[in-house]
Formats: sequence, structure tokens, C-alpha cells
Amino acid sequence: MKKFYLTTPIYYVNDEPHIGHTYTTILADVLARYYKLLGYDTFFLTGTDEHGAKIYEAALKNNMDPKSFCDTIVDKFKSAWQSLEINYSRFIRTTDEHHEKTVQLILKKIYEQGDIYKANYEGLYCIQCERYIPDDELVDGLCPDHNIKPILQREENYFFKLSKYKEVVYNKILSGELEIFPETRRNEILGKLQLKLEDISISRKHLKWGIPVPFDQQQTVYVWIDALVNYLSGIDFFNISLETLDMKHFWPCDLHIIGKDILWFHAVIWPAMLLSAGVELPRKILAHGFFTVEGKKMSKTLGNVIRPKELLEIFGVDATRLLVLSSFPVGSDGNFSIIESKEKYNKELADNFGNLVSRTFAMLSKYFNNEIVPTECSSEMKHTIYEAVNSYKSFFAELSLDKIPDAIFSLTSYANKYVQMKSPWIVAKEKRKDELISILSDLLYCIKASALLFYPIMPNVTKKIVESFNETEYTEFDYKKLLEEKTITIRNHKFKPVDILFKKLK
Ligand code: MSP
Repeated sequence: MKKFYLTTPIYYVNDEPHIGHTYTTILADVLARYYKLLGYDTFFLTGTDEHGAKIYEAALKNNMDPKSFCDTIVDKFKSAWQSLEINYSRFIRTTDEHHEKTVQLILKKIYEQGDIYKANYEGLYCIQCERYIPDDELVDGLCPDHNIKPILQREENYFFKLSKYKEVVYNKILSGELEIFPETRRNEILGKLQLKLEDISISRKHLKWGIPVPFDQQQTVYVWIDALVNYLSGIDFFNISLETLDMKHFWPCDLHIIGKDILWFHAVIWPAMLLSAGVELPRKILAHGFFTVEGKKMSKTLGNVIRPKELLEIFGVDATRLLVLSSFPVGSDGNFSIIESKEKYNKELADNFGNLVSRTFAMLSKYFNNEIVPTECSSEMKHTIYEAVNSYKSFFAELSLDKIPDAIFSLTSYANKYVQMKSPWIVAKEKRKDELISILSDLLYCIKASALLFYPIMPNVTKKIVESFNETEYTEFDYKKLLEEKTITIRNHKFKPVDILFKKLK
């Protein structure tokens, strides 16, 4: 059985989930559902990043001990993912005991490999980024991402010989053994790797909120080193937690989905750590772009942070998933606007797809009392469905996930035009019954194909439509068949009316 292991970043628990976290997680969920439907043994890991100075300070501010503080935010992430119907396989927390042990084990391996040494370090540290900012990245002395002044830190730390792995990592990326999507980001990394690469500090002396360094209890592991290891502890790579099943076979990871802000950690530091520890590298990294909201950078100070709850209240689960997924091309930055999303919802979900479903079922009820024996699908309609399936599959394969809904909407908009062209109401008036049946059959094939194609994105909508075909038990089977053989069957002759799927929004 083929396997597919994919991950999201583990999110910092200094803040509740917002649309940025939601975006990454929806991309991952849609892909996970897709591979699962195609029969892959799929493992989808998400979770939370709970150590480090940033979380420690946030806990202090809230007058709580760090662990209890983390627990409260973790609940918020979990309930957000539940309300968005995110079907992750596991939620990992960096405070999980077996994760802490895995981090220590990896560090020991790297240490034994001779890749860790002690040295003094002085640098400007941005707590929000949880990293030292090199001088050439500062903008007017401020962190370019957070606009705050980094703090001067001077400590004796442990260092990882990142520089030693520079060439190997470069070659793995160049050869495509480690793929980075999109191309522009891959080239950025390759370019940066041609410059001087410094070793990195991997421990903190004065921070207690972290995992103790296994060979020096006076220091804690740097939060990023701790966090990256979650991709191994999430599948219990070293079989540390005995109560879990053996999940090691999921490695190497097939896809790390991350935002562009953390690509360096994933494309350079993480592979170097794995090379040093003797573990195979992940296969692919997707670094997506960043959301701006109504044209502005999202920030608490500007008060324009969009939370998933707000979207769910306006659009409901299925439409939220679709709108967030398709708001802009995966590789670029883009804007999220509630107004534009409402327009898109009305245009594509209510007036295009929703309208096709309701007008077809209305005719089925009016002319045939919800019962017909469908004829074969016309070659014209078959061809259009076939084309939609082809583009759908290639958008998944090339990770152009934002384009997937459009592949389906073009099919449903074709069907709406087909209704106009064939004018079934005239055919009905003139009592050309066979012709009417074949028109309605074509529409039903198209609706069923579209409903199935929407399954990874809008699972509830798919279920509702399939119920009206009285075929719920075949959904998974039919999905696979449609994708692999491009065939679509309608088994029953009796149909159930469908409630309005998407009420128009003002
Ligand atoms: N904890 C680290 C990741 C460790 S992974 C081993 C971290 N956490 S985070 O909470 O800051 O989340 C970062 C991720 O959230 C980004 O990489 C991105 O996936 C997502 N986003 C956060 N803000 C975003 C936008 N404004 N737009 C799109 N996604 C963004 O970094």
C-alpha cells in the first residue's frame, strides 16, 4: 500500500489560531483527504510549539505557569480544527514526554557524530521570530518581520556544525532529491546556500522553559531545534512511546507544508540535522505565501486579524474551507477580503454550483416525481467531465491547490449553459419525454461528478448531494473510480430533493 505522510508547522501557542494558521491547515487537510480517498495510507500531523522565550513571556503576561498557559491555547487550536473539520491523524505537542525524549535522542546522535561544540555567542535576538537576526537583514535596526528591536544576547551555547552540511544540502535540493515548491523559493534557498553559512547556536543558557540538553543539564534546547523534531516524534520514529502503533514506515515525510517565513529552517537546518543524525531527508516542502487582510499586513495592533470563527459564522464550514483554500495562488502572497469572498461565494457556490443542483432537482421533481431511469451520459458531457477530472488531478499533483475549485466550477458552469441551450422546459411542454430524460441524466452525471470532486474540500456538501442520489455507501468507491477511470455511475432511479446548499449572502 502506498503511503503519504504530510505535516503542517506546529503553531506557537502565544496566540489563538488565525486565518494564516487556518490556511496552512486547510491545505494540509484537503491534501490528506485526497490521498486517503485515493487509497494511500495517509498520516497527517499537526500540533503546537510550546517552548521558548516567546511562550514563556506570554505565560508570564497572563500570570500563568507556562504549561497551564499552553493547555488553554492548545484547546483553542483543537477546537478550531474541529469546527473546520480538520481530520488530522495526530496532534503533537512539544511538551509531550515522548517528544522531549526524541529531541534528546536526536541531539545525542548529533553530538556523537561530532557535530556539536561549545562557543560564546553574541547576537541580536528577535523573540517573536525566535531567532538571531543577521545584521544585513535588519531594517533600520529593527526585525524586518516584526518591526521590533531585537535584544542583544551574549551566552556560552552549544553550536551545531551547520556549515559542514552546506554542500550536501545544496546538492540534494539542486538534484530534486529534496523538492521545494514553488520554484522561486527553491531558487532563493539555493542562492542563499551559495553564501557563507554560519553554524547555529542550538541551546539557551538562561531560559528554563525548554527541554534540557541531554549532555548539559544547565542548558535548554533552542526552540527551533526542539520544534523541527516533532516531525519524527509525531510518528514515534524511534519507538519511544510504547503505547503507540509502529508508525516508522511513514518516514520519509512526503510533504512539509509551511509558510514562506520558515522555509530556511525547513529547507536547510532540518535537512542538516537529519543528515547528521543519519536519518533520511523529507521528500518535499511546500512554502506558501502570506495573507494580507483587505490589503494590509495582519496584526493585532491594526486590529485586522481574522479568526476562523468569524469565517465560519458567515460562510459555514464547507464554504470557509473552499474560500480560504482558493483565496490566492499557493506560492504567492495574497489578500483576503470578506467582501470579495462573499462575492465569490454568491457567484460560484450559490449561483453556479448551487443553482445547478437546485434547478436540476426541481425539474426532476416537477416532471418525473423524483424518479427516472438515467440514460447513458452523452459524449459531450462525458468529455467535459473528463477534462475537469484531468485538470483537477494535475492541480493536486503540482500543488496548485487554489485552482482546484475552478476546475469544478468550470464544469458546473458548462452544465448551467447546457440547461440554457437545451431549454428543458420547452422540451417538457412539447412532451418530448426521452429527450427530457437524457438532458436530466446528463445534468445528474455532472452534479454527481462535481459533488465527488468537491469531497476533499467540502465533505458535507458532497454527503448531502450523494444522499439525494441514495448512494451514500458508494462515495469513496465512486470518487476513486472517477479519478482513476474517469467513469461515473448512477445506480438508483429514485432521487431525494436537495435543500438549498448555499443561501445567498448580502
Ligand atoms: N512554531 C513555528 C513553526 C515550527 S514548525 C517545526 C512557527 N509557528 S507560527 O505559529 O508562527 O506559525 C507559523 C505558520 O503559520 C507559518 O509558517 C504559516 O504556515 C502560518 N501563518 C502565520 N501567519 C500567516 C499569514 N499571515 N498568512 C499565511 N500563513 C501564515 O512559526
